[in-house]
Amino acid sequence: MIIAAAGSGERMGLGRNKVLLPLNGVPILIRSAVAFSAHSWVREIVITVRPEDCQEVEEMLRRWNLAECKLAIGGPRRQDSVAAGLAALNPNLDWVLVHDAARPLVDPEIIAAAYSAVRKYQAVGVAVPVKDTIKLVDDNEFVVDTPLRAKLWAIQTPQAFSFRLIKEAYARAERENWEATDDCSLVERLGVPVKLIPGSYRNIKITTAEDLDTAAAILNKRSEDGSMNNAAIRTGIGYDVHRLTSGRPLILCGVRIDYHLGLDGHSDADVAVHALMDALLGAAGLGDIGRHFPDTDSRYKGISSLKLLEEVKAKLDEKGYTVGNVDLVIAAERPRLSGYIEEMRRRLALTMEVSPEQVNIKATTTEGLGFCGRGEGIAAWAAAVISGRSSQAGH
Ligand code: CTP
Ligand code: MG
Repeated sequence: MIIAAAGSGERMGLGRNKVLLPLNGVPILIRSAVAFSAHSWVREIVITVRPEDCQEVEEMLRRWNLAECKLAIGGPRRQDSVAAGLAALNPNLDWVLVHDAARPLVDPEIIAAAYSAVRKYQAVGVAVPVKDTIKLVDDNEFVVDTPLRAKLWAIQTPQAFSFRLIKEAYARAERENWEATDDCSLVERLGVPVKLIPGSYRNIKITTAEDLDTAAAILNKRSEDGSMNNAAIRTGIGYDVHRLTSGRPLILCGVRIDYHLGLDGHSDADVAVHALMDALLGAAGLGDIGRHFPDTDSRYKGISSLKLLEEVKAKLDEKGYTVGNVDLVIAAERPRLSGYIEEMRRRLALTMEVSPEQVNIKATTTEGLGFCGRGEGIAAWAAAVISGRSSQAGH
């Protein structure tokens, strides 16, 4: 995706690029980048910057742990900046989102909706119905026309496109000198239909000084609401036990562990992945693994549990949920697991399409107590935090 941040913020009148200003302590650009980096399917973020802002932006990204964002030098018009962003993107992407850094309040639901709609419509803009009646005027501010308000929508970002289509639109714009203040316009000029989906009146573009006050008020209201009712964040737990037996491989978090015993079970008996799947399903209000993958079903015999985890992830995606972080505890008296933990984190992260920092795995013994302590079995617990539209849970 591209975040356009190479403007000069002239209308703000501070002699400084407005998107670098703090909004309730966090720079506007950082708020925008974080909104997108939280979505696991956002593979790459390219930020357009002015040469003179480069160093400050780089430092900012480092400080906010967003060093994976790439920078592209923008141009004089927004359109030139986005063109530079497109050129800097990985050419193998299928879909591209373009967002103005100046809209830091964009909701995760709107981002997810744009991403889901673009796969159906190829070109999508987030927009809201216009509240004011709009006048078209001549150069002397005499009214020329009053378009029918019911047909007017104010376009916002993100806007989302098939990569091929937006590249074509920008190539034509370059050849034929088309000018536009948003990306959808260029696709419209190609004659390709552009679908609008509902944005939010809170997804304001910070343009003039009073917008900063409005944005701060929206954020303050949000944190008040959040402390009363954290509806968008959901958590789940999972627990599983399997018996150790001879003649089976020991597989934990998808990693083959060197040991003379393995776990008994219908699938590969990866007890840690089972606990994790239950935590994720629980967080999403989707029941448990027994419901989704019954062990009476021969399809699941001997199957790698990572395959099942992939399916659980797909079920969460379908409901618009994003994985925040997961934490696991594996209780095994033997063998020692510490040397495998990093590889386990990588495998789980890859399967859930999150970064390894979002996955934590702990191994413990039980001091010789109980079935784990006697080496009869291995137990695992998992906790998961996901975010998304809570009203969709369980449907
Ligand atoms: N933008 C950009 N390159 C430009 C101009 C704008 O990447 N040459 C970005 C801005 O940083 C902003 C977004 O496009 O995030 C929308 O533009 P706008 O709100 O107009 O921001 P500015 O151009 O910075 O503000 P102004 O027009 O008041 O100077
Ligand atoms: Mg501008």
